[in-house]
Amino acid sequence: MIAAALGLTACGFGTEGVSVPKNSPDREGAELFATHCAGCHTLGAAGTQGTGNRGQRAQGPSLNEREESKEDVLYAIQNGGFSGAIMPQNIVVGEEAEQVAEFVAKYAGQAATEAARPGQKSP
Ligand code: HEC
Repeated sequence: MIAAALGLTACGFGTEGVSVPKNSPDREGAELFATHCAGCHTLGAAGTQGTGNRGQRAQGPSLNEREESKEDVLYAIQNGGFSGAIMPQNIVVGEEAEQVAEFVAKYAGQAATEAARPGQKSP
């Protein structure tokens, strides 16, 4: 039952904003993202708003607005983004990195349908 939890969660922190159903194979990756990547990246399915303040250089791209392949996400995790300048390397490793990459690859780039931004009212 994947259709169960499509509710928009505009203001969640930690894993509370994760909108991936608990029984989904991507749930683990979503929670890992919410706890390890949230500070710097926005991604609706994980309920994170890390990209919010673009004035800060450490802020990563909004993954709502980027399509990512699993390979690219793994690359970014292992090398610290694509420029290797700001994002820390290997925040998650091994099996956890795989799970996060799988989750991001599936849910990134859904801005048009999933984005919940501060100031927007949820339907
Ligand atoms: C300290 C802040 C920070 C954290 C934490 C962080 N990132 Fe990043 N990330 C960045 C920045 C800044 C960039 C853009 C610069 C670059 O690519 O080197 C980036 C780039 C990326 C990219 C490439 C996006 C693109 O299309 O250019 C991906 C994918 C990514 N991060 C995934 C993750 C994942 C997954 C995690 C958690 C395991 C994570 N990031 C944690 C700051 C962060």
